[in-house]
Amino acid sequence: MRKPMVAGNWKMNGSSESVKELMAGIKDGMGSVNNAEVVVCPPAVYISRVAGSAADTAIKVGSQNICDEDKGAFTGEISGEMLKDTGCEYAIIGHSERRSLYGESDELVARRFAAARRNGIKPIFCIGETLEEREQGITNDVCARQIDAVIALEGVEALADGVIAYEPVWAIGTGKTATPEQAQEVHAFIRGKISALNADVANGLRILYGGSMNPGNAAELMGQPDIDGGLIGGASLKSEDFLAICTAAG
Ligand code: 13P
Repeated sequence: MRKPMVAGNWKMNGSSESVKELMAGIKDGMGSVNNAEVVVCPPAVYISRVAGSAADTAIKVGSQNICDEDKGAFTGEISGEMLKDTGCEYAIIGHSERRSLYGESDELVARRFAAARRNGIKPIFCIGETLEEREQGITNDVCARQIDAVIALEGVEALADGVIAYEPVWAIGTGKTATPEQAQEVHAFIRGKISALNADVANGLRILYGGSMNPGNAAELMGQPDIDGGLIGGASLKSEDFLAICTAAG
């Protein structure tokens, strides 16, 4: 059985005060979360304090990116060792906002995946197609290409060290959620593709859905056989909504 996981991607939101309040709210409600692994991914400047706040709880902390290099003259980047040192267990890698707004290629994303692994951080590896790509009927090709970049660099077994998050770009922050059937179809494709290379890795791999997931649609999405949790943006900024999704996952 794959343990469901719900991760909150706070993106570039929050302040010292709001982060403290959000963490207090999540900690308060964790008693209602039965079975899901709960992760929060704050902006990097708040990782330390969030990790401190989460220290006596089951809540795990992740970063929103990780440098592909380990040390040195890489202004503005944060290394895996630093993330580990400040309390991160996970790192989001290849989010579509990084790919589209900051030009991160499949190859760079794969190198970031490798950096996470060699520093003992579990990648939350994001993939997904744009609306244009979906309309062209190449959703599976795009997801396969993004996954293949990691497999080429690290081998299929490396996927067992993290989770995949399927996030259709057209569903992110738009309120347009993929239907459970649409999402399940892609999740099944992803698992099938990996299974053709290594069935054990595919069976154990958690594949999260992300894109306008909220308390109203979470249970149905996560009820699909190949959807093992969610990567939540907007709804992760309100503790009640985030907790409702975590509870639905359990
Ligand atoms: P929303 O939940 O705001 O659509 O964002 C999803 C996302 O990008 C999580 O990484």
